[in-house]
Amino acid sequence: MRNASSTIEQVAGRRVWDSRGRPTVEAEIRLASGVVGRAIAPAGASTGSGEAVDLRDGGTRLGGYDVTAAVRNVQDEIAPALRGRDVTDQARLDQALVDLDGTSDRSRLGGNGLIAVSLAALHAAAGAAGLPLWGYLLGAGTALLPLPEIQIFGGGAHAGRRVDIQDFMVMPVGASSFAQALDWTAEVYLAAGTRMAQAGRLQGVADEGGYWPAFDTNEEALEFLVRAIEDAGRAPGDDLAISLDVAATEFHDAGQYHLGLDGRAIDGDALIELLVGWIDRYPIVSIEDPLAEDDVAGMQRFTAAVGDRVQIVGDDYLVTNARRVERAARDRACNALLVKPNQAGTVTETRAALEAARAAGFATIVSARSGETEDVTIAHLAVGWGAGQLKVGSFARSERMAKWNEVLRIEEALGDTGTFAGRGALAPPSAPAGTGDPRGPGRRSG
Ligand code: PGA
Ligand code: ZN
Repeated sequence: MRNASSTIEQVAGRRVWDSRGRPTVEAEIRLASGVVGRAIAPAGASTGSGEAVDLRDGGTRLGGYDVTAAVRNVQDEIAPALRGRDVTDQARLDQALVDLDGTSDRSRLGGNGLIAVSLAALHAAAGAAGLPLWGYLLGAGTALLPLPEIQIFGGGAHAGRRVDIQDFMVMPVGASSFAQALDWTAEVYLAAGTRMAQAGRLQGVADEGGYWPAFDTNEEALEFLVRAIEDAGRAPGDDLAISLDVAATEFHDAGQYHLGLDGRAIDGDALIELLVGWIDRYPIVSIEDPLAEDDVAGMQRFTAAVGDRVQIVGDDYLVTNARRVERAARDRACNALLVKPNQAGTVTETRAALEAARAAGFATIVSARSGETEDVTIAHLAVGWGAGQLKVGSFARSERMAKWNEVLRIEEALGDTGTFAGRGALAPPSAPAGTGDPRGPGRRSG
């Protein structure tokens, strides 16, 4: 029986603007009860080829990034198809969106319009239940506050390819609460900025708010990061560990990896050797997309080499797709999933990828995109789904801070009933103690 108060009465699409000043799709769903759910699609810059298609108008206007067709599809096709349906049946709603689109890559209606509508429906359903989104998703479960993964230096496609590696991040593995994790990160971010200024290298920030990487080598950024953690009075590895998103697809071509900064092209084995060397010498606990998205053999070799001591995250490689996660688990090609709702296209498919990762024993990290807005839905997904980790970009610019601040509010609302995930959220689940290097990967609890 349909509950009249959760019946969808109106679905609207509108064009709003993201953190890069580009248009994006906002969807708003109004229920018969008057409850409104709203969400905005984010956008990537270093996208995996298997992602749901971000429908852009093309042409010369706004650099081809306009989304008038995607917005029109929400208004003209999606709205009439959803009107009268029960918003609480997310799986059926999402299936209706997938069927209506009719393509395997969501290219007809646009993955951007689809994810905005799907997330707006989720918000409306939570509103109909009179619950915050995280509480609606969590139900009776125990709440886990995510271990944050926070960018200090931006690079790759987010910084004009100034350095090859895309994200140089910290993970406050030794913190005892989410609030403390942010406190420590704020000190490191400040220290990194001061150190950059002292070195005469402070040149503003990259797309996700991390400092512009005015370095001479990729490794110099790692050196700076370790020093910034020490400057902040924290122990590298024990308090805050390092995490990298190599986003290797971006500099891969015909079997070769082109390290622009180092001025050389290397093959997959040489890249693996380079990364393993960094893992040996720096307190790195997580590496994302170490090889190109189609270099499965490389991912397997990397995982065989270091998968027992660091988290190996598939982003472009897995594109939030349950089938790909299952295959990666069979292939032993990584041990963690980056969860980006707009890669999948709907909430239900995103959730399926997360469940597949869980079933495979993978760690999960809910993630923002480089193009973001004030929308804080992912903060709620991270807590409500108990993902364990959250990646949002840096510790500057309000499209990033809005998410961190939202988790602070959730942590406060949970009080004693919430647990901070900490180091235990990282894959692999039970890694051995650190290497010989005193700054090595560090201890693991539980
Ligand atoms: P993107 O970058 O949003 O530009 O894809 C984020 C990431 O690679 O994790
Ligand atoms: Zn990535």
